[in-house]
Parts: sequence; C-alpha cells; structure tokens
Amino acid sequence: MRTPDRDFKDDDDEDDDDFGYPDDEDRDSLTDVPGGVRLQKVLAEAGIGSRRHCEEMIGAGRVEVDGQTVRRFGARVDPDHQVIRVDGKRIPAKPGLVYLAFNKPPKVLTAMSDPRGRKTVTDYLGDRSERLFHIGRLDYDTEGLMLLTNDGELAHRLAHPSFEVAKTYLAEVTGPVPKDLARRLQTGIELDDGVATADKFRVVDRSGNRALVEITLHEGRKHIVRRMLAATGHPVTRLVRTDVGPIRLGNLKPGVSRDLTTREIGELYAAVGL
Ligand code: URA
Repeated sequence: MRTPDRDFKDDDDEDDDDFGYPDDEDRDSLTDVPGGVRLQKVLAEAGIGSRRHCEEMIGAGRVEVDGQTVRRFGARVDPDHQVIRVDGKRIPAKPGLVYLAFNKPPKVLTAMSDPRGRKTVTDYLGDRSERLFHIGRLDYDTEGLMLLTNDGELAHRLAHPSFEVAKTYLAEVTGPVPKDLARRLQTGIELDDGVATADKFRVVDRSGNRALVEITLHEGRKHIVRRMLAATGHPVTRLVRTDVGPIRLGNLKPGVSRDLTTREIGELYAAVGL
C-alpha cells in the first residue's frame, strides 16, 4: 500500500483519543495508513456531513475503505489512493479534484483554448480553468450541459465507448414530425459511418412547421443528433443537451458553471463502474 503524500497528512489531531481508543488498539493494515488522514475528516471534507455525523456513519457500518467496512474510530486512510464508499457509493475523497457542470452557450468552442481566438469554455471558468478538461464535446452551435473535471480516470471512462453514458438533447426541428419518427430513430438510422440508434424519442411540442423533440442516445459520434434528424428529413435548428448520465442541466444559466454535488459525483462514478 502506498503512503499518502505529505500534503494530506492530518495535522488536526485534537481528537486522537476520541472514544478512549489508544492509538495502537484495533489496528489493521487497511486503516493503519502511516501518515494517513482520519476517515471522518476525509468524509466531512468530501461533503458527506459534519465530522460528528461522519463518525456516526462509520460507527453504523456505512463506510467502506477498499471494499471493507471500517467501523474503527480513528482509522487513518489514504484518500489519494484508497476507494472510500458511503452506503455503497464512492465518494470524491481525493483532495484537489474538481467536478463542474457548465451550461455552454452557443458559439463557444469545446476546447480550453483556440488558436483562432474564438470564445472557448475557458473564457467562462475564471481561475478554475487551468487544470480542467472537458468530458466529451458539443458542437460550436450546440448549447447545454458539459462536464468538466481534473479527475483523469473519471473523464477517461466517461469518454470511452465501452462506458458511453446516455445523453439527452432537446432539439428544435423543422416539422411536422410524423408519428413513426420515434420508431424509425429507435430502430436505427443509416448514416455514412454506420447505423445510429436512439434509446428514446418523444415530441415535446409542435407548432406549425416546427417541433421540439427530446432524444436520448448513447452515441458519441460527431454531430450525431444533427445527422440523425437531418437524415429523417427534420434538420435541427437549435440543439441543447439537458442530461449526461445522471447529471441534469436543470436551471443552470448559460455561461454559468456549478460544482457537482457529492451525490452526483458518486452517481457518475457508479455509471462508469468506479
Ligand atoms: N450531437 C450533435 O449533433 N451535436 C452535438 O453537439 C452533440 C450531439
């Protein structure tokens, strides 16, 4: 087992003797990481609750470290390398990791910089942007939910086809939309680079020669929604991504980002088998 970086050493030892356990009692290899951080501190800093609440969770057997339940008060763990779960859900324990949901406006490039000087995601992130990278891409004209992180493992898995999570889009299309469009999209549309299939499709609104439709798919190919709908004779005039796996855009304003909650991060981890 690796020793955690010195940066993560818990210097807040005022509660070393909590509950009357001497330091050497009940030690085991899992919870005896030299220089480690107290488990309740790791949980509290990950946003699980107050330290007291986290201690109660540990006592109740709700916390696992590397797959084993830890009930021992005063356990020291390595948040950089150990996997910590609460109620079976992984928590973002590693210090310094950032997970953001961003509402990308139209006419913004999915990139951290652009040699041609166009607006990029970085222009909206202020100081936070340096170490972050985007998970997947949205077209220059597409709006909506984009996830950003500096958690390389999560980003890699979310972008990998074998873990491709479902994404949902609202599209304004040229109508009228026939009744059998859902069936056609869910059966599969022949495109230049192979068949593309929607998981779900529904018409949200119709008005004259326009319709607002919602489409969910696991596909990550370039311009996939635009190409699928164009191939059915319903070109997209506006496209907004509303969901990526378990994360929702909600009422996040265009150009604004927010931190994902601990629960959302746990759901993302679960979606990609972490
Ligand atoms: N499909 C598209 O056509 N464009 C996007 O930006 C995302 C999915």
